[in-house]
Amino acid sequence: MPEELTASGAAGLACAKINLTLHVTGRQEDGYHRLQSLVVFASIADRITAHPASAQSLTIGGPMAPDLIPVRSDNLVLRAADAFLRAAGLDVSYRFHLEKTLPVASGIGGGSADAAAVLRVLSQLHPGLVSSEALEELALGLGADVPVCLASRSAVMSGIGEIVSPAPALPPLGLVLVNPGVSVPTPAVFKALTRRSNPPMPDLPDRIQTLAQLAGLLERTRNDLEAPAVAVCQQISEVLSALAADRDIAFARMSGSGATCFGLCAREDAADIAVRLRAAHPAWWVAGGEIV
Ligand code: C5P
Repeated sequence: MPEELTASGAAGLACAKINLTLHVTGRQEDGYHRLQSLVVFASIADRITAHPASAQSLTIGGPMAPDLIPVRSDNLVLRAADAFLRAAGLDVSYRFHLEKTLPVASGIGGGSADAAAVLRVLSQLHPGLVSSEALEELALGLGADVPVCLASRSAVMSGIGEIVSPAPALPPLGLVLVNPGVSVPTPAVFKALTRRSNPPMPDLPDRIQTLAQLAGLLERTRNDLEAPAVAVCQQISEVLSALAADRDIAFARMSGSGATCFGLCAREDAADIAVRLRAAHPAWWVAGGEIV
């Protein structure tokens, strides 16, 4: 687990969530969509710290913080903390600091991963007060992607996100993440979705041995939100073209509802690919790392 207890508090990582596949299989009466998604997590992460304080507060720093996130009481970090402390029956407060590396509203679960990291950090500070089942329910109450971020390891996600099943064993993988610098609101992308997924995601084997095998398998899957996201944000197709054109990228696709796209590669190639892409597209956010 990426949490660590410090002298006076605790810290945890909120790893980027990547949807390698995202098949939309239907729609519920409440408007939420049922989906099937193979999800992995990257070494590229936000970091959250929590220290006991007389009142609950949140500060945000890091490269993605300036002007982007109004720290309001409905911020997902503070909502996650309130939900945990209420469920635990605790009358204590924390000063949270979020070091924001991941772009906001960008399809890699930044806010969901942050909320899940808060739940994990507080569980570590107050062990045994909230059962893992109750924690999963709190997670779902905070957002459809929060349950899968709670475990923060490769998984197949279904339902609206609340059903988290084991993923195939994967080989070591590198990846680059690229965002054109545009926030894309998830509801707008789901609203622009016209075509329903047909057929559903193919069955996955228990083990995928190589990057080439994974790339071949992913060719037979989709992200059904890619076309509607491109309709909302044209720059996504430019990012996908740049990733597809790189000689060391085996497979490229958009993650979640966008606009961040990923390119899968060998672990040792990720840093060099990121350097190349950054040089060619200085306005884009580019990060190289690996699947954890
Ligand atoms: O649950 P979360 O806040 O992440 O979802 C944001 C929005 O995305 C929802 O309000 C809904 O419009 C859409 N959504 C959906 N089906 C899902 C997940 C999200 O329609 N499974």
